Amino acid sequence: MLLSSLLCLAFLSTARAVTVYGQTPFGLTSALRTLTATSEGAVPTATEKPLAAYDETILKPPPLPQDQSLTFTLNLAATNASVPNLSIMQHGSFFGFSIEMSVLTQIMGKNASHIQVPFLNLMGQIQQRAGGVHIRMGGNTQDFAYWVENIPNGHATSKEKSDPKNPTLTPAVLYSDELFYLAANISSLVNVRWYLGIPFNDTNWRLTIAEKGQAILGDHLIGLQAGNEPDYYLGHGHRTEPYGPNEYSNEFAALIKAVEDNPRIPIKNMLIGPSLATGPWTPEMLFDTGYLDRFKDSLCMVTMEHYPSNNCFVQFNVGSYVDPQETFPSFLNHNAALNLVQPYRHSSDLARGIGKPFVMFETNSATCGGLPGISDSFGAGLWALDYGLTMAAANFSGALLHVGGQNVYYNPFTAPPTNQSSFHQWTVGAVYYSVIIVAEIFGKSNVSQVVDTSNNGIYAPSYAIYDNGQLSKVALFNFMDDPSGAHDITGTITVDGGQVPQQVWVKYFLASSVSVKTNLTWAGQTYGNKFQVDGRPKGELNITTIPCDTAQNQCRVPLKAPSFALVFLTDPTVPAAAEPTATLTFATTAVTKLVNTATVDPSVLATSNGHSGKERAALGSTSPGSISAARRVVPGVGVVLVSMVLGAGVVLAAVAR
Ligand SMILES: *[C@@H]1O[C@H](CO)[C@@H](O)[C@H](O)[C@H]1NC(C)=O
Ligand SMILES: *[C@@H]1O[C@H](CO)[C@@H](O)[C@H](O)[C@H]1NC(C)=O
Ligand SMILES: *[C@@H]1O[C@H](CO)[C@@H](O)[C@H](O)[C@H]1NC(C)=O
Ligand SMILES: *[C@@H]1O[C@H](CO)[C@@H](O)[C@H](O)[C@H]1NC(C)=O
Ligand SMILES: *[C@@H]1O[C@H](CO)[C@@H](O)[C@H](O)[C@H]1NC(C)=O
Ligand SMILES: *[C@@H]1O[C@H](CO)[C@@H](O)[C@H](O)[C@H]1NC(C)=O
Ligand SMILES: *[C@@H]1O[C@H](CO)[C@@H](O)[C@H](O)[C@H]1NC(C)=O
Ligand SMILES: *[C@@H]1O[C@H](CO)[C@@H](O)[C@H](O)[C@H]1NC(C)=O
Ligand SMILES: *[C@@H]1O[C@H](CO)[C@@H](O)[C@H](O)[C@H]1NC(C)=O
Ligand SMILES: *[C@@H]1O[C@H](CO)[C@@H](O)[C@H](O)[C@H]1NC(C)=O
Repeated sequence: MLLSSLLCLAFLSTARAVTVYGQTPFGLTSALRTLTATSEGAVPTATEKPLAAYDETILKPPPLPQDQSLTFTLNLAATNASVPNLSIMQHGSFFGFSIEMSVLTQIMGKNASHIQVPFLNLMGQIQQRAGGVHIRMGGNTQDFAYWVENIPNGHATSKEKSDPKNPTLTPAVLYSDELFYLAANISSLVNVRWYLGIPFNDTNWRLTIAEKGQAILGDHLIGLQAGNEPDYYLGHGHRTEPYGPNEYSNEFAALIKAVEDNPRIPIKNMLIGPSLATGPWTPEMLFDTGYLDRFKDSLCMVTMEHYPSNNCFVQFNVGSYVDPQETFPSFLNHNAALNLVQPYRHSSDLARGIGKPFVMFETNSATCGGLPGISDSFGAGLWALDYGLTMAAANFSGALLHVGGQNVYYNPFTAPPTNQSSFHQWTVGAVYYSVIIVAEIFGKSNVSQVVDTSNNGIYAPSYAIYDNGQLSKVALFNFMDDPSGAHDITGTITVDGGQVPQQVWVKYFLASSVSVKTNLTWAGQTYGNKFQVDGRPKGELNITTIPCDTAQNQCRVPLKAPSFALVFLTDPTVPAAAEPTATLTFATTAVTKLVNTATVDPSVLATSNGHSGKERAALGSTSPGSISAARRVVPGVGVVLVSMVLGAGVVLAAVAR
C-alpha cells in the first residue's frame, strides 16, 4: 500500500446519508438519534408488533422481466495483463461495519471484561476469511457524545439523563475509558481495527476521543472521522447561515490546527473526511473548493456516506412515504449498484490521484432505520453483494454497513433485547452473508482485483476476480425470482488466452425467494434464523463441483432464480500456502473468568470452516433452537468467555496473545 494509507494505520471504512431531498428536515437528526438511541426496547410479545429487527413483513417478489436472456457467455482473459477497467488491489476486509455509538455496548459487550461471545464469533468468521475486520464506532450520535470519568456498573457507555424540561431532546451518549478498553480487548481476541469520530457539533473542539483512541487503541486505531454528513449540518440546525463547502473546509482547517497543537495526539495525519451524505452537496461542490489538495497531508482516506432509500416519513414524518413493495424491485437489479456508485466515480479517481483510499463510510439499504420487508430480505443480501462488488470494481477501498439497535430493519447482526438474552440468541440479517462472501472473494492476500463483466442485462450481473494476476474466481448473480425454474440462468465461462480447468468449484448463496428472511445458506451453511444465531455456521459445507467441457473451453454454471454463485477455477479447499485456514470461533460457554484468561479447550477443536458440521453439531450449542448456550451468556454472570475453537495452531498465537 501507499505510504498514505499506512499513515491511516490500516485504512478503510464509510458513512450514513439522510436522503430527504428537497426538504429542510429540521429536527431530523435528533429524531434519528432517538431512533438509534432507544436501543433497549420493549420485549416483543406474541400480540405486539415485533421490533423492526424482528419484523415479519414478507413482500411480493418483483414481476419477472420479459426480455432477460437465460444464457450468457463470459469470455475472460486468463491474466490481468490487459483487462480494461480492472480495479486496484482489494482486500477481504472491504466490507466492515459502522456501529452507532448508542448501541455499542449492546452489541460488543457491557465493558472490557464482559464481551459478547456471538459478536466475537461473527467477527471471527470474517477474520478467518479476510484476516481482519474494520469497525467504526460512530454515527449520528458521535457529534454529541462525550467522555466521562465513570459510568455506573463499570459500563463503557450510557445515555445522558434526559432533561425533564425538554423531553424531546435526545440524550447524548456518554462513554468512559472502558469503551476503549472494550475495543482493545476485542482486538486482542479477533483482529478488529477501529475508526472513531471527533465530535463536530460545534468548533469548541473536544479531542478526548482522539487522545484516548490513540493512547489505548494504538495500532488498532485506523483513523478519526472529522465531520459526519456536514452537508446536513445547516439543514439539521447544527449550523447557521452561511454554511457551505467553504465554511466546512475552514472548520476542518481549524480542527487540524487544534490537533497539531495537542501533544496528547501524537499522530496528526489520521483524519477522515469529508463523509458527505451527498444530499445537499455533491462531492464536486466540496472538491472544487480545493479541499483535497488543502488537506491531503492530514487526511488518511477520503470518505462518503450514502443510502439509496429512506424510511423517514414513517419514522419521523419527514419527506414523503416510501412504499416498500413499490421500492423492492429497484433493489433487485444491477442498476441499483451502478446508480449508487455513479456519483462517486470521479471522487474515487480524485482520491486515487492523491494516493488515498476512497471509502463508503456508512451505508445500508435505507436511512431512518431501513424498510420493512426489504432491508432484511434475501434480496437485500444479493443487493449488498452486488453493491459491494460494484464499489470494489470502481476502486473504492471499502464500505461500512451501518448497524443500529433492535428498532431498525437493516442490521447485519442484532443482539437480543437485554432482558431477553437469557432465552433468545442473536439474529443476523441477509447482509451479514454479503460481508462474509465479499471477505471470501478478496481473501487475505491483498493481490485481488475485480472487474465488472456484466453483459447480460440488469438481472444477471457478473464479475471476474484476478488473484495475483491470474483469473481465479467468477461471481454470477440471478436477481429474478421464479420457483418454477423457468427463469434459471446458465452462465458460460470461457478463458481467453488460456484453458478452463477440468472442473470448477461453486459456492452458492441461496434462499427460496428474494423476499424471505429465513433459511439463507452460503455454500450449504446457515448462521441460523432469528434468535438462533451464536455466530457460527451450521450444517455441512456444500461446494458444488461442475465438470467443464475442456474441448470447447467452456464451463456452464447453473443459477437458480434467485441465486448468487461464486465460481472457483482452482480448488478452494486447498489454501494458498500463505493462508492458514484455521477456524476461529468462541463457544458460547460462559466461564466466570476474565476475557484475557481465555483458554483453548482441545476437546472442542474443530477443523477448518465447515468441514466438520458433524463435529460441530456435537458441541451441542450450535443446533438451531438450542437455548442452553444462550442461557450461559446472560449478562451479569460475570465474564462472558470463552473457549476458543481453533482448527490449526497457526493463528493461536495471534489470537491468544
Ligand atoms: C424487558 O424490558 C422492557 C423495557 O424495559 C420491559 O417493559 C419488560 O417488562 C421487560 N421484560 C422482562 C421479561 O423483564
Ligand atoms: C470502463 O468503465 C467506463 C466507466 O464506467 C465505461 O464507460 C467503459 O465503457 C468501460 N470500458 C470497458 C471496456 O468496459
Ligand atoms: C481487558 O480488560 C481488562 C479489564 O478492563 C483489563 O484489565 C485488561 O488490561 C484489558 N486487556 C487489554 C488487552 O486491553
Ligand atoms: C456539543 O455537544 C456537547 C456534548 O454533548 C454539548 O455540551 C455542547 O453544548 C454541544 N454544542 C452545541 C452547540 O450544541
Ligand atoms: C462489567 O459489566 C458487568 C455487567 O454489567 C458488571 O457486572 C461488571 O462489574 C463490570 N466490570 C467492571 C470492571 O466494572
Ligand atoms: C481503478 O484504478 C486502476 C489503476 O490502478 C485504473 O487502471 C482503473 O481504470 C480504475 N478503474 C476505474 C473503474 O476507474
Ligand atoms: C494486507 O494488507 C493488510 C492491511 O494493509 C495488512 O495488515 C496485511 O499484512 C497484508 N497482507 C499481506 C499478505 O500482505
Ligand atoms: C497484475 O497482477 C500482478 C500480481 O498481483 C500485479 O503485480 C500487476 O500490477 C497486475 N497488473 C495490472 C495491470 O493490474
Ligand atoms: C426452513 O428450513 C426448515 C428445515 O429445513 C423447514 O422446516 C422450514 O419449512 C423452512 N422454512 C422456510 C420458510 O422455508
Ligand atoms: C449442494 O448444493 C447443490 C446446489 O445447490 C444441491 O443441488 C445439492 O443438493 C446440495 N447437496 C447437499 C448434500 O445438500
